[in-house]
Amino acid sequence: MTEQKATNITWHHGAVESADRERVLGQKGVVIWYTGLSGSGKSTLAHAVEEKLFETGKISYVLDGDNIRHGLNKNLGFSPEDRTENIRRIGEVAKLFAECGVITMTAFISPYRDDRNAARSLLPEGSFVEVFVKVPLDVAEERDPKGLYKKARAGEIPEFTGISAPYEEPESAELVIDTSELDLEQSAAKVVDYLAQQGKLSA
Ligand code: ADX
Repeated sequence: MTEQKATNITWHHGAVESADRERVLGQKGVVIWYTGLSGSGKSTLAHAVEEKLFETGKISYVLDGDNIRHGLNKNLGFSPEDRTENIRRIGEVAKLFAECGVITMTAFISPYRDDRNAARSLLPEGSFVEVFVKVPLDVAEERDPKGLYKKARAGEIPEFTGISAPYEEPESAELVIDTSELDLEQSAAKVVDYLAQQGKLSA
């Protein structure tokens, strides 16, 4: 539990609410939380979904682990505590984006079930869509787009997810997408179809 340090702070409510912004945008604010091993295809999938949505006039935004770690979370590493704080901050940021009415996609390994559930608990029921980007470890390792698995196997990267740090698979993700079986187009369509079914692509 993160300590509340500030005192004498009061929540301010504006007259414009989430539902008003959603009406203007013609969509619902939602968080699509991609989780999976490094190299599973989270960011690639999120950006493919973003493109598909954009083509139909829907506004989404991808918060990506490697990118966010250059800025907002540059003071965090890969210890269990730092990963928890990484995901806590992103959960809060994603919530803010969703309140803007944006289809918000997060692409973080987010290896711990409790951390993902804490992010889920910030959103109303139905507004947090967990997508398990599932791929066998050997496939992710074979892809090794950043050459990190090779380094991790050589002992050059400590606490590397899947090799020397844990990944806790989701038990009840809204969607499970195996990117070793589906191609990118099929995978992205699965997410967009789900959003349409859930009524997220209209206000
Ligand atoms: S998380 O575990 O805290 O959710 P996050 O998604 O932000 O991780 O960052 C993962 C990315 O950081 C990986 O895709 C990889 O490029 C890089 N990385 C560097 N060191 C590690 C490590 N020890 N474990 C996993 N990923 C790492």
